[in-house]
Amino acid sequence: MHYLEAAREAAQAAGELLRARFEKPLTVNSATAHDLKLEVDILTQDLITKILLGHFPEHALYGEEGIVGDQSSAHQWVVDPLDGTVNYFYGIPHFCVSIALRFRGEIIVGVIYDPIREELWSGEKGQRPLLNGEELHVSTRAALAESVISVGLSKTSATIDAGLPLLQEMVHRVRKCRMLGSAALDMAYVACGRLDAYIEQGISLWDIAAGWLLVETAGGRVEMQPRPDLPDKFSIVASNGLLDLR
Ligand code: IPD
Ligand code: CA
Ligand code: CA
Repeated sequence: MHYLEAAREAAQAAGELLRARFEKPLTVNSATAHDLKLEVDILTQDLITKILLGHFPEHALYGEEGIVGDQSSAHQWVVDPLDGTVNYFYGIPHFCVSIALRFRGEIIVGVIYDPIREELWSGEKGQRPLLNGEELHVSTRAALAESVISVGLSKTSATIDAGLPLLQEMVHRVRKCRMLGSAALDMAYVACGRLDAYIEQGISLWDIAAGWLLVETAGGRVEMQPRPDLPDKFSIVASNGLLDLR
């Protein structure tokens, strides 16, 4: 089976599970000041794992809810089963499934699925990405003053403190700043030109791996920096490649 087809199958099955349980009573596994972990996060990753590793038993999976298989395998699926868990819990219909495939460390497939709007972004290295079968591209807006950008603050005091000065500055320089609660959908929205840029301090690879491929193949630019103070966390600036965000 083709990798992209498998990623689409898993994302859509996961999306159906999430849609079926949305606005129903949910089990909270743990809660911190600015985050929640739900049972449905785990159930959804289990379903994705079953589908992907069912097709490709020799592959590894690196997901927010745990890792499966030998992580030094050439093929590694990078999965966020539910991006936007807090939105999901509060009944805000803005969340998604994000699935990417890395081959020897390079992202070669990316799929993001929003089960509420039934929007599926999919891309492969070297090819124009698609939104529900139609080719997509980043916005052509070059004036920062006319742009709409998303700024995430992630979920810890450290990331909030790192992001606030940036938000404070940007909110005066752009037309609108948004904080939508799903990093993966922010990336998908940059890829298809709904947002001109997305900035966040302290995201994880699973949040943005699929979106990274989508933004780049849609003509945009992604800059990722590891956070020296936070292990396995990154700062990200994704944009249409035309805005001067310095
Ligand atoms: C979070 C969301 C949120 C972003 C956080 C992420 P989760 O992912 O994408 O928008 O600000 O950095 O961790 O916990 O809903 O999968
Ligand atoms: Ca996430
Ligand atoms: Ca998640």
